[in-house]
Amino acid sequence: MDDMSAAPATRPKLEGVAYGRPQQHPNDTLTRVGPGAPCGEYMRRFWQPVLASRNVTTRPREIRILGEDLLVFRDGSGRPGLLYPRCMHRGTTLLYGHVEPDGIRCCYHGWKFAVDGTCLDQPCEPNGGLNRDAARQPWYPVQEKYGLVWAYMGPPDRMPVLPDFDNMELEEGEEYFAGDNSMGAHGDPNGPEVVPYSWLHMNDNVMDPFHVQVLHSTFSVVHFVKEFEVMPTVDFEYITNGVIYKAYRKLDDGREVDRISTWMAPNIMSVPSVLLTHGRSNGLGFSVPVDDSHSRILMTMRMKPNVDFRRGAGLANMKPWSQMTFEEHQDAPGDYEAQAGQGPISLHSEEHLATSDRGVAMQRRMLEKDIKAVMEGADPTGVYFDEGHVIHVPSGNFYRG
Ligand code: FES
Ligand SMILES: [Fe+2]
Repeated sequence: MDDMSAAPATRPKLEGVAYGRPQQHPNDTLTRVGPGAPCGEYMRRFWQPVLASRNVTTRPREIRILGEDLLVFRDGSGRPGLLYPRCMHRGTTLLYGHVEPDGIRCCYHGWKFAVDGTCLDQPCEPNGGLNRDAARQPWYPVQEKYGLVWAYMGPPDRMPVLPDFDNMELEEGEEYFAGDNSMGAHGDPNGPEVVPYSWLHMNDNVMDPFHVQVLHSTFSVVHFVKEFEVMPTVDFEYITNGVIYKAYRKLDDGREVDRISTWMAPNIMSVPSVLLTHGRSNGLGFSVPVDDSHSRILMTMRMKPNVDFRRGAGLANMKPWSQMTFEEHQDAPGDYEAQAGQGPISLHSEEHLATSDRGVAMQRRMLEKDIKAVMEGADPTGVYFDEGHVIHVPSGNFYRG
């Protein structure tokens, strides 16, 4: 094997071949999200969006989030609930339960639970259950805001407030439009609701202004607008609770624009208009872990009704993602292809982060520092305990002059 002297002198030296390459692995600290895993415990310190409010109804549905299988529903009085799905009596799923004004009733023996897990009825027991006050179906606190249902799945004594974001206050005639079907990844209402890769893939993507010039603008088709064909000059900067980039472009027509995009711990993004229209960002996005190797991209925007936010974008003229053939996906890949292409969990040990990945490196550094802080008993950056806390979101497209 190492007898190189046997090779003829003219044979080219083979360098960098794939043979014998080291085995590679993901960064477990940033990608394992189940209960007890460092990132899982860190993520559980924040309110996480579960689904769009309009998709939480009196029809119970199963949902996996942070590696836990749960049941989400809305009781007959309009209160959303998130329960452990196995009935505490003898373990059948509450998926077949029926919703009543004050809770959900298990199909098997009729125990009824409120959205906070309290047991309201045990019809097979004498007097509806003399000890039923001692019974409690495991539950998580939920609340609704910005068109989304949010849950807190962390330790009760560390529950922060669900903050306000200063770009989300409704203006005259506006409403919230929330989505929970990962449209941020594939742009298709009929695309997969959950994407088959780690939450970190989309999270990295948001501090990566350079892929906008390549993947979305010059590699194949124009996904958004032609102005992104100009390679930007970019600065990255830490803010109190995250990282921003400022991408400056001098356009062909002489106009100059600064595009500021924001990532906030742990998995929140505010990407300004992809049509490069002037003004502050009117939305938020979230890369929520379903489990280690799946995620759900949720978003909410404030808009006037009947405005198609994609009108004018290249995307609006493309075939819907779910109707493209494999070859069409190869010819015109987008975020989904690039991110699913990284595998279910990327092999971080074989990455080669370069100058243009500074934002990604800054995010990951902040995440790792805060994951460590949580493991050591502290609170992470980006959780707040003062009621009504307002987070400033600097995102927007700002034309100079
Ligand atoms: S298993 Fe649910 S009431 Fe018996
Ligand atoms: Fe993208």
